[in-house]
Amino acid sequence: MDSRDEVGIVQTSIIRSTGFWAPPDVITNAELVTSYNAYAARFNADNAEAITAGEIEAVPLSSAEFISHASGIERRHVFEKSGILDIDTLVPRIPPRGFDDISVQAEFAMRAVRPALEKAGVDGSEIDGVIVASSAQQRNFPGLSCEIQNLIGASGWSFDLTMACSSALYGLNIANAMIRSGQAKRILVCSPEIMTCINVHSRRDVHFIFGDAASAMLVEADDGTPGGWEVLGTHTQNKFSNHLRSDYGFINIAEWTVDPEFKPGLDQDGHRVFKDVVSFAPIVARDLMAQLELEPEAVRRAWLHQANIRMVDLIAKRILGRDRTEENAPSILEEYGNTSSSSVVMNFEMNSDDMKPGETGIMCAYGAGYGVGAAAIRKR
Ligand code: COA
Repeated sequence: MDSRDEVGIVQTSIIRSTGFWAPPDVITNAELVTSYNAYAARFNADNAEAITAGEIEAVPLSSAEFISHASGIERRHVFEKSGILDIDTLVPRIPPRGFDDISVQAEFAMRAVRPALEKAGVDGSEIDGVIVASSAQQRNFPGLSCEIQNLIGASGWSFDLTMACSSALYGLNIANAMIRSGQAKRILVCSPEIMTCINVHSRRDVHFIFGDAASAMLVEADDGTPGGWEVLGTHTQNKFSNHLRSDYGFINIAEWTVDPEFKPGLDQDGHRVFKDVVSFAPIVARDLMAQLELEPEAVRRAWLHQANIRMVDLIAKRILGRDRTEENAPSILEEYGNTSSSSVVMNFEMNSDDMKPGETGIMCAYGAGYGVGAAAIRKR
C-alpha cells in the first residue's frame, strides 16, 4: 500500500514495536547521598567563615530515606557512575570522540533503536523518517536524527525535537499525524536521554531525580499485518513556566566571556512543578479522551511519565477516575528514577504484554515547558 497515492484518505497508524535500553551502572540512594553529603560537608567546611557571616548559605544534607519517601526512587541506571559519585566532578566521565566516530548519544540511541527494528522485522532502509525526541541533544548540528538515519541506512527525512520529559509523545503526535495524512509510512521516534550530564548533582532538591535510558518507537501505517497497537489519537499542549529549567546551551561560551563564574544549571521549584503539573497533565489526557469519546472505565491502563510517585498517584487517579494500582498505572520509578522522555515508552514496554486485543490504554508524559503529551492506543 502506498498511502501517498491516496490523497485525502486517512490511514490508521500503528505502534508496531518499541525498544529501550538502560545502562548497567546503577547508583543506589545510599551511594548517591554519601557522595552528595561528602560534597556538602567539604563545601561547608571550605566556606565556614562566609556561611557564619551570612554571606552564603550552607549546602544542606540529603538523606536516602527522604528520597525514597518523597520520590519513590530507590536507584537509577546511569551512563557512567564513577564521575557522578566523585565529589570533584559530579558528572559522568565521557571521553571526547573523534570527528568521524559515532557520537555518544547516537550510540546510546541505537541500543533502543536496534531492538525496536528487530522486533518489527523491519530494516532501517524501510524507514521514511527519523525523529529524535529528547530533552537535550549533544550538539547543534548535524542533527542527531541525521546521524541515526545514516546508521540505520534510511533515506527520507529526519529532525530533532525537544520538549523535555514529554518529547517522545510530541514525536508520536507528529508521527501519527504524518502517517494518518499519508505523508509517511514508517517513522522511528527515539529518545536517548542522558540526563545525568545536565543534572546538578550538587543540588539537594534535584540530585536524586534522574537516571539515564534510551527508548524507541516504530510507528507505521496499517498495511494489514496483524499485531501492534492502533493509535486512536494523540494530543499535546503547553503552558509556559520557568519553574523547571535547564540553562545549558550554545550561549554559555559567550556568557562565560562576560562572567566566568556563571554556572548554567538545572533549576526547579519542586513544589510549584508538582502542583502545576498534577493539575495540568490530566486535563490534556482527559481532553484527548473526550475527543475520542473514551470513558475512563474503558481505559484499562495508563502508562505515565515517571517523575515522582506521588505525582504518578495523583495524575493516574485524575485520568482514570479511580485509585492508582500497579495494574492500572504501573510505576518503574524505584529501579530507574526519572529517565525523562524515555520513561513513558519504557513503562509501556515493560507493562503491556498482559493486555488483550481490543483493550485500551493511555500514555501521558509531562514535564518542563510545561509540555504535556497524551496518546490513546488500543491493542490489536
Ligand atoms: N534530603 C533530605 N531532606 C530533604 C531533601 C533531601 N534531598 N530535600 C528536602 N528535604 C527536607 C526539606 O528541607 C524539608 O524539611 P523541613 O520540613 O524541615 O523544612 C522537608 O524535607 C520537606 O521538603 P519539601 O521540599 O517540602 O519536600 P517535598 O515533599 O515537596 O519533595 C520534591 C520535594 C523535589 C521531591 C518534590 O517537590 C517533587 O518531586 N517535585 C516535582 C519534581 C519533579 O518531579 N520534577 C520533574 C518533573 S518532570
